[in-house]
Amino acid sequence: MDGEGNGGSALGCRNDFPECIIGFISGTGRVKMSNRSHRNSGYKTMNAMNRDSKNHSSIQGLLIDAPAITHHVAAVADCRDLLSEIPDNSVQLVVCDPPYNIMMANWDSHEDYIGWASDWLREAERVLSPTGNIAIFGGLQYQGEAGGGDLLSIIHHMRCSSDMLLVNLIIWNYPNGVSARRFFANRHEEIAWFAKTKKYYFDLDSVREPYDEKTKETYRKDKRLNPCTIEKGRNPTNVWRFGRLNGNAGERVGHPTQKPRSVIQRLVRSLSYPGSTVVDFFGGSGITTRVAIEERRHSICCDSDRSFPGYVSEHIRKMESSDMFEPLPEFEMQNQLYEAHPVFPSGQLRDSKQWEAA
Ligand SMILES: C[S@@+](CC[C@H](N)C(=O)[O-])C[C@H]1O[C@@H](n2cnc3c(N)ncnc32)[C@H](O)[C@@H]1O
Repeated sequence: MDGEGNGGSALGCRNDFPECIIGFISGTGRVKMSNRSHRNSGYKTMNAMNRDSKNHSSIQGLLIDAPAITHHVAAVADCRDLLSEIPDNSVQLVVCDPPYNIMMANWDSHEDYIGWASDWLREAERVLSPTGNIAIFGGLQYQGEAGGGDLLSIIHHMRCSSDMLLVNLIIWNYPNGVSARRFFANRHEEIAWFAKTKKYYFDLDSVREPYDEKTKETYRKDKRLNPCTIEKGRNPTNVWRFGRLNGNAGERVGHPTQKPRSVIQRLVRSLSYPGSTVVDFFGGSGITTRVAIEERRHSICCDSDRSFPGYVSEHIRKMESSDMFEPLPEFEMQNQLYEAHPVFPSGQLRDSKQWEAA
């Protein structure tokens, strides 16, 4: 077992057991070759802390508290203009879904993709706090369709030119997509999660997948398993299965490449904390703004497309008419960065210029 209750949700065949149990049951007795990662001292320490309900050092000193009111910016702006207004080390999470460079819209083609991306990647690193994370969406098989450049180029660039750490390459696997004849039909997109430092914030418990009752009952009988982890559920792993939004999906607001709320929610819950600031400078449909409001994070989002504020309003309308929140968490929304936004520790705006889309 990986110490996180990371087994299958239904028993029946041996592969459904947590890894540590497989270690004991394979062959006739103890296994000869155990998983070396489980002997790792850092891993053992994390397990002991988990057992004793101690917090990882990355959350010591953080003010983790759901504020009574959250502050949000939804601006029409170029990503680099928005970023230039944000102070150093002030943001917990950047949700980043950049143009794919496959000419699917007028914003989706860059001759020098990495030359352009390196500007906002550098700025994103600057604004992230030491516990901060960035989640970058993209694909690996688009090379050559526009000017070249894709998520693989971004990862390579980050490895060569940035101090950030690649924590996970998340595979977002979706069951629905277009068919193909000359290659295997694509059913995944990647999310590269980079952390600014080793002290990155990560709340696994907030995104665990609960075991069903039958599985819990079986696991509870095994004294080697941590009862607390069994109750909390399994680590959702780095392969996420969520459907893409169909054309008529209820959460759609009109943007062509809108990401599902469930995917953004998992990122926001696990990589940021209530009261911290989430930034999305390729805001698209405004789904990150919506999730930030729901999850009581502050947010700063923009898009160069003038439809952006309309999409955000549509999300708010949908939230207000949803029965999920009683009442909807209180929030303030503006179309430019403002003095009272918590991203400014001193409450002082560095430059109050109004952005204009490029
Ligand atoms: C892939 S879409 C983002 C979709 C978004 N994640 C969602 O789920 O709704 C990329 C967005 O980046 C915006 N964009 C392109 N170039 C930009 C720039 N230089 N600054 C700000 N936004 C830009 C496009 O208008 C487009 O809406």
